[in-house]
Amino acid sequence: MQAVGVYPGKKEVGMVGHPRPIIRGDGGVRVRTLEVGVCGTDREICSFVYGEAPKGYDYLILGHESLGEVVEVGADVRNLKVGDLVVPSVRRPCLREECRPCRNGYQDFCSSGEFIERGIKGEHGYMAEEYIEQEDYLYLAPQHLRDVAVLVEPLTIAEKAMAQLWLTRKRFPWEQDDGARPRGAGMKAVVIGTGPIGILGAMKLLSEGFETYVYSRSPKPNYKSELVESLGAEYFSMKQVTLEEFAERVGQIDLVYEAAGIFKSAWDILSVMGENGIFIFTGIPALGDLVSIEANRLMRNLVLKNQLIYGTVNADEFGFREALTDLGKFQQIWPEALRRIVTGRYDAASYRELLLEPSKGIKNVIRFA
Ligand SMILES: NC(=O)c1ccc[n+]([C@@H]2O[C@H](COP(=O)([O-])OP(=O)(O)OC[C@H]3O[C@@H](n4cnc5c(N)ncnc54)[C@H](OP(=O)(O)O)[C@@H]3O)[C@@H](O)[C@H]2O)c1
Ligand SMILES: [Zn+2]
Ligand SMILES: [Zn+2]
Repeated sequence: MQAVGVYPGKKEVGMVGHPRPIIRGDGGVRVRTLEVGVCGTDREICSFVYGEAPKGYDYLILGHESLGEVVEVGADVRNLKVGDLVVPSVRRPCLREECRPCRNGYQDFCSSGEFIERGIKGEHGYMAEEYIEQEDYLYLAPQHLRDVAVLVEPLTIAEKAMAQLWLTRKRFPWEQDDGARPRGAGMKAVVIGTGPIGILGAMKLLSEGFETYVYSRSPKPNYKSELVESLGAEYFSMKQVTLEEFAERVGQIDLVYEAAGIFKSAWDILSVMGENGIFIFTGIPALGDLVSIEANRLMRNLVLKNQLIYGTVNADEFGFREALTDLGKFQQIWPEALRRIVTGRYDAASYRELLLEPSKGIKNVIRFA
């Protein structure tokens, strides 16, 4: 069957002829790929920054943001049937006995670093006509999410970030979630970046009741600024508004959701974050550059304003389930905007343009069916 992969040894990207997979255990599910999202991680693997082929192969099939349809189930599969739409998760646990996160189903917190990631590290991904997966790693997507469920995996980043946020806010004993109003009501959040991670993060924040501001690079109006403003967020471009003007416009910043991977911009916003503020990093910058910041101000603010900074990667089972629930909510609230996040659908033959040429649009996907 046809698949898109990389040969890390030869530093080549191309179509690979991979054997059609066969269910080997009774718990296996054979899935026909419908769509696979392309993201910066795939592009980095194609520039050989990372990416690791599975044992016994000289190539790695790409793809970790996937939507598929079940075409066959093993005898022991209980909760899925032929015709179901499914979204697979990405990370698989390491084998270390002492890794408590992995032994407890939280491989997104793996402490050994020996985890596997489908399409990224040590196991083939989903940019193929079909794949096999265990039922436990597949999440049922309702048919009405067929057009947008490829966004589940990137949305899980915001889901985990927010689950962590509500845990960290337990340090404020006067805050009680009585369920009477949205948990973010009365708080102001800033999102940095308007790629899929930033836009889906803004949707999550707005749906939780935060007054949400988006700070990004491109001058407005543009496709992305119009999209985020149609959600009810306010967009600011660093090219049109100074940091001081931005800070004055927003006032007390309670939360920052960083989704650009550019430390300079992160530092600018961090330096104006308010009392008790929480700063979440999701962006992954390239290594190498030195960035100069006023480090003493960072330390002073952290201490004198009781601030907290944390990073977050990947997501657990809860994150995938929440993403599916939230995508359903987003479809009700913002049907048009949600559809507009997927800016292009391409055949697998367009892989070069999608993986090797400068990225355009927001989320582009490869269609296999
Ligand atoms: N933590 C995780 O598990 C995880 C998972 C996936 C991705 N990531 C990381 O998350 C980040 C965002 O991913 P993505 O797919 O949404 O990326 P993306 O599509 O490349 O979007 C990046 C966004 O950042 C904006 N930007 C660029 N330079 C900026 C600057 N100097 N100041 C402010 N904004 C700037 C861009 O603005 P314009 O559109 O205006 O040009 C763009 O909207 C990346 O670093 C990625 O590696 C993390
Ligand atoms: Zn991705
Ligand atoms: Zn582990």
